[in-house]
Amino acid sequence: LARLPWRGKHVLITAGPTFEPIDPVRFIGNHSSGKMGFELARAAASWGARVTLVSGPSQEQANHPLITCLRVQTASDMLEAAQSHFSDADVVIGAAAVSDYRPAETQEQKIKKTAETLRLDLVKNPDIIQTLASGKQGQFVVGFALETENEEENAREKLRRKQLDAIVLNSLRDPGAGFGGDRNKVSFIDKNSGIKSFELKSKADVARDILREIDARISK
Ligand code: PMT
Repeated sequence: LARLPWRGKHVLITAGPTFEPIDPVRFIGNHSSGKMGFELARAAASWGARVTLVSGPSQEQANHPLITCLRVQTASDMLEAAQSHFSDADVVIGAAAVSDYRPAETQEQKIKKTAETLRLDLVKNPDIIQTLASGKQGQFVVGFALETENEEENAREKLRRKQLDAIVLNSLRDPGAGFGGDRNKVSFIDKNSGIKSFELKSKADVARDILREIDARISK
């Protein structure tokens, strides 16, 4: 049993980018590969938890009987899928790189290359982790913060504004960390302002570090 410390728990994780369609062939997206979120899912499943993984477009495969992977495209779809698995979750982790804006309208036909300039009106997407956290009933909710400047200050501001229990900071200024690659360098910041910084390591090891930090706080 000690090897399956999260047996009986339900963990909800968002992963990957979202794709917001402009027309039938184009979208607004970002460089997230989904690797960080999938490693968190694998780590939680290896601890015996049942995992619901809501992923945007990603090449990653879950391949674990305890992981149910729900594939979505847009932020709205991701929110809907996450909301329907939130109520019985014990731990919720937002590792997805959600597009903050989407085109106000999706064109039904491919946009033609006739005009010299083209304007695209964007509207704000819902904030998934913030929406979930605002309905907390005992869930431990963890976000990520991907920053390029004033990292710790910005992460703490997101932690407060989004009513999170903790936030995992990763910086695009750390070489070899963040998007795409197999490694990451993170700091774990909790709502009581404790901060713990880890070395650059594989995303599988980062996932285990994050789970250990969460476990220490939920088993108190
Ligand atoms: O997928 P990989 O290639 O492995 O890369 C991993 C990662 C860098 C994408 C990951 O570690 C990471 O940092 N994910 C969050 C990226 C991000 O969008 O950060 P943010 O600071 O913009 O968002 C803060 C938090 O709010 C995040 O938990 C995010 O999931 C959440 N959010 C943001 C916007 C939105 N509309 N809904 C959200 O839920």
